Amino acid sequence: MLVNLRDITAVAEQNNMAIGAFNTPSMEAVRAAIDAAEETGYPVIIQHAECHEDFMPMDKIGPAMVALAGRSSAQVCVHLDHCEHLSYMRRALEMGFTGVMYDGSMQPYDVNVANSRRAAAMCHDFDCGLECELGSMGARENGAGHDADESGAMAIYTDPDQAAGFIEATDLDILACSFGTVHGIYKAEPKLNFDVLTDIRSRVNVPLVMHGGSGVSDDDYRSAIDAGIRKINYYTYGVKYAGEAVRRTIRDFEAKEADSVVYWHDMTMAAYASMLETFKDVITVFANGAEPLA
Ligand code: 13P
Repeated sequence: MLVNLRDITAVAEQNNMAIGAFNTPSMEAVRAAIDAAEETGYPVIIQHAECHEDFMPMDKIGPAMVALAGRSSAQVCVHLDHCEHLSYMRRALEMGFTGVMYDGSMQPYDVNVANSRRAAAMCHDFDCGLECELGSMGARENGAGHDADESGAMAIYTDPDQAAGFIEATDLDILACSFGTVHGIYKAEPKLNFDVLTDIRSRVNVPLVMHGGSGVSDDDYRSAIDAGIRKINYYTYGVKYAGEAVRRTIRDFEAKEADSVVYWHDMTMAAYASMLETFKDVITVFANGAEPLA
């Protein structure tokens, strides 16, 4: 069933767990995420990032995401990830998305506040939950703007002193925090700053979001959840593993017969199977010991 971002993160809050939020710019990813939720019995968020428009236009995948979420036995929120243009956000709202993120983290604070407020007003018209970001991850979720050494040194941690004022000024529902994770592949082991997270948590009463959530250790996931993270955005490592599964499939074909025919559906099936396993694994870690809810 289709669930609002506010309600799905409230479930996470009640159970001291986090909801897996998977970027799904392909039908294989949409199916894998929803099937993983149904098979494990935990809720899920499927999300489309504005910067993935070239991989998959939202106008094509969005209606399918909403329809499949509505038909699922699992609790599924359909969310817009890292939206920088309010006109794009309006299209998602009109399509039936139940959560959106306005990302003004690259803007000066005042502009971020003003645009986040506009986003909140739009969301109220559609009964949709709103995520906003304070601080900066230092790189976009499509890899653009990464530090040369991929260390995340360009990231600006969320300022705990600013967080409560930002929430009050914007009327957001959940807050994306920067505390040491980065989007994309980690070249060095991520070093998460749990003190920043704990400090934010002690001053605000909204669910907190981890971006750059793939490639983090299970222990760090658990510590982050215990410190208040309720939504974990996960993309890069899931599609990396799926890409490796496709490569293995092609190699297996070629090992059997040098000029064997490689069918596209064998690739999509390999990618789907890989993502299903990855999503089930991480959803179970993110449950943090909570019993299945379905
Ligand atoms: P990863 O690049 O770590 O998978 O993060 C995805 C993300 O945060 C999307 O918003």
